[in-house]
Amino acid sequence: MKGRVVSGYRPSGRLHLGHYHGNLKKMIALQETNECFFFVADWHALTTMYRDTSQFGPFTTEMILDWLSAGLDPEKCTIYRQSDIESIPEIMLYLGMVTTLGELERNPTYKEQLRELDSRVVNTYGFLGYPVLMAADILAVDAEFVPVGGDQVAHLELTREIARTFNSIYGHTFTEPQPILSESPKIPGTDGRKMSKSYQNYVGIDDEPDVIRKKIRKMITDPARARRADRGHPEVCTVFLLYHSYPHDDLSEIEKSCRNATAGCTDCKDELARRISDDLKGFREKRREFSKKKEIVEKILQEGAERVRPIARDMLINARSAAGIGKLM
Ligand code: TRP
Repeated sequence: MKGRVVSGYRPSGRLHLGHYHGNLKKMIALQETNECFFFVADWHALTTMYRDTSQFGPFTTEMILDWLSAGLDPEKCTIYRQSDIESIPEIMLYLGMVTTLGELERNPTYKEQLRELDSRVVNTYGFLGYPVLMAADILAVDAEFVPVGGDQVAHLELTREIARTFNSIYGHTFTEPQPILSESPKIPGTDGRKMSKSYQNYVGIDDEPDVIRKKIRKMITDPARARRADRGHPEVCTVFLLYHSYPHDDLSEIEKSCRNATAGCTDCKDELARRISDDLKGFREKRREFSKKKEIVEKILQEGAERVRPIARDMLINARSAAGIGKLM
């Protein structure tokens, strides 16, 4: 075993290609040679969706079935739900004491979300503090590595800062975790922005081939190529960018046929859609099987919680004793 790894996803429904290439494939590879902890971050979902939690349960089930169908294996990694681990919020409490408002207010995601989401909803103590919660998730299992998408790197840096501050005040208690970034190129959504559920520009990993084709047909291409006979510029085309995430020995031919207009965008898109559908074929088949046995999720979560609780409990005891909390005289 090389090292201890942790990562979490919010239960926000079904996964899409951005999750799959950006992080999930990496998680699947890491479970082979590392001690991996992968969890459903339901308390994180609460930071923005506290007014309606009714979908957290169903979304948790669906997401875990997606994980299993994609290749996460509960024999090789530990899958659990954040809210089953009672020590996390108390660890968060100690971490929160040593985190400054400046550190939290500088967080780029925080600033962006305040702008993009309804600020009346996210202008809360809980939302400002969610990187502290994330730090608690990571430090509670004493993880060394965290596979994350690019958007989470700033949070991970904050986790390192918080651990460092705690250690410098109370003595060495927490390991500073390292990010593991996926090597796969950025996954564009059908509108050219980052693929995201909230932008409605995603290809779901369970989409059927005809749905994939329809979505890919709508993708933004080179705006300068208005007519079939116009020469294209693959370097500005999101379809071409997405080709890189699939088997692509023939990419230079595809590039050429765009540049000299021997192939049209529709042909090029249909070919990409076919590659995506082929790549997801195994997933769709497994997912269909798993949909018939949803009850396994409960068992997986129970076993996962049993494995993680004692680890997080030990880290909590370390943090308490380092900080001198709960001692007499
Ligand atoms: N912050 C992540 C997100 O919003 C989820 C998350 C919570 C996480 N805790 C984590 C990821 C710990 C990695 C490690 O998607």
